Amino acid sequence: MGEFLVFLHIFFIALLLMGVGVLDYASIKLHKTTDIKEFGVYMLMGKTAGMMTPVAAIAAGLIGIGAASQLGYSLTDGWLIAAYIGLAATLIVPPLTLKKWGQAAGKMMPQAMAAGKILPEQRELMTGKKHLAVEVFMNALLIFFFFDMVFKPF
Ligand code: HEM
Repeated sequence: MGEFLVFLHIFFIALLLMGVGVLDYASIKLHKTTDIKEFGVYMLMGKTAGMMTPVAAIAAGLIGIGAASQLGYSLTDGWLIAAYIGLAATLIVPPLTLKKWGQAAGKMMPQAMAAGKILPEQRELMTGKKHLAVEVFMNALLIFFFFDMVFKPF
């Protein structure tokens, strides 16, 4: 049972990685494009992937807790506590930042479409330094998770 839960855990991690991969791809494209229609498409792509990632993260986390208990780990082991904190950050940080900025940029879409160009405020919201900083943090967190899960350093 424990082995099967680890398999399921990895399955949802794979979905999470796909979601983050699409988010990163959309973000790179948002940086590069100068076309408002394309900008809208990549925003939608990011939004859709952003809806999938928390579902995959929650499923992976819950199944991970089940796997830990089946495999005989203590649920208060340091590496698991680090995973709970990391998972909480994964669920809390994006809605307060990336999602909020995406919604604000989305509201400007009719005005941008009428003007036929990406508004500077939209570009700043979607590709500015703050956006990049959160993206780097989320990707770094993912790498930390792999390190934490494989080496269990705490
Ligand atoms: C609350 C969140 C999480 C819990 C409770 C959890 C729990 C677990 C458990 C119990 C295992 C089996 C460990 C073993 O037997 O060696 C495992 C393996 C693994 N987990 Fe997690 N996990 C969580 C989140 C994550 C996240 C977010 C990722 C990646 C982004 C991840 C990636 C992995 C990987 C790659 C393995 C396989 C490690 C190996 O076989 O050496 N986990 N996890």
